Amino acid sequence: MAIILDGKKLRDKILEDLHIKISSYDKKPKLVVILVGDDAASQIYVGNKQKCAQKIGITSEVINYPSDTEEKIIIDKINELNNDGSVHAILVQLPLPEHISKENIINAISPQKDVDGFTPYNFGKLFSGEVPCVYPCTPKGILLLLDEYGIDIEGKHAVVVGRSNIVGRPMSQMLLNRNATVTVCHSYTKNLAQITKTADILISAVGKNIIKGEMLKSDCVVVDVGIFKDESGKLRGDVDFDSSSKIASYISPVPGGVGPMTIASLMLNTVELFEKTL
Ligand code: GUN
Repeated sequence: MAIILDGKKLRDKILEDLHIKISSYDKKPKLVVILVGDDAASQIYVGNKQKCAQKIGITSEVINYPSDTEEKIIIDKINELNNDGSVHAILVQLPLPEHISKENIINAISPQKDVDGFTPYNFGKLFSGEVPCVYPCTPKGILLLLDEYGIDIEGKHAVVVGRSNIVGRPMSQMLLNRNATVTVCHSYTKNLAQITKTADILISAVGKNIIKGEMLKSDCVVVDVGIFKDESGKLRGDVDFDSSSKIASYISPVPGGVGPMTIASLMLNTVELFEKTL
């Protein structure tokens, strides 16, 4: 039976340490989250981020816009926040409504306040093996979790399923920067199972239940980034937990694996950006 990669436990440890650290500062870090529209999942994520920030002493503000807001209004707000010395971290919750260009919005965020690490400046730094202002939250959280359990990355074959800008792409680069041999799979990949069978570390970030135990190499490490509700309303991940946990040596659960680590990383990034201004 695989060992569970417990994201909640590590999150709590990280938040406790951050809380102590933040209490020692006179000034407080400030995170501003922009939420456009009424996507139910986004509202829950943003609520969780705000609660968590407040608990550890980060000042947090959520700015809500209706879904028909013009792109320019949001860009003007981002410019205002870029120039506001009391704001250290800006996050625009994705996805955005279709009429708004995600690229234009992300490009407007100052790289020094880009708490997701999604701006071209920070992505470019990451993809050229340099150090960005901060690393994207979900991949950062996954590496913290693997490190916590003493899982070696160097020289390992890491297979990333999914190539989104939020997880798959930055994850593959961060693994590459840690000297893994990286394969990225996606919706056009042929013979997915043949490739996943060769993974020492498998990271799935697709949002569909596609990974079964029979697709895994014995004793591999499985990280499940997917989270969605199935037809019965139960929370599921990309990975079939029952069959996979019999084959893998380590596995992250859904919920309680990657999700809490993404929030912990967001808090770490906020404090890192704040500390750079001191
Ligand atoms: N939507 C889902 N995950 C994320 C994330 O990590 N950052 C932002 N900005 N939006 C998201």
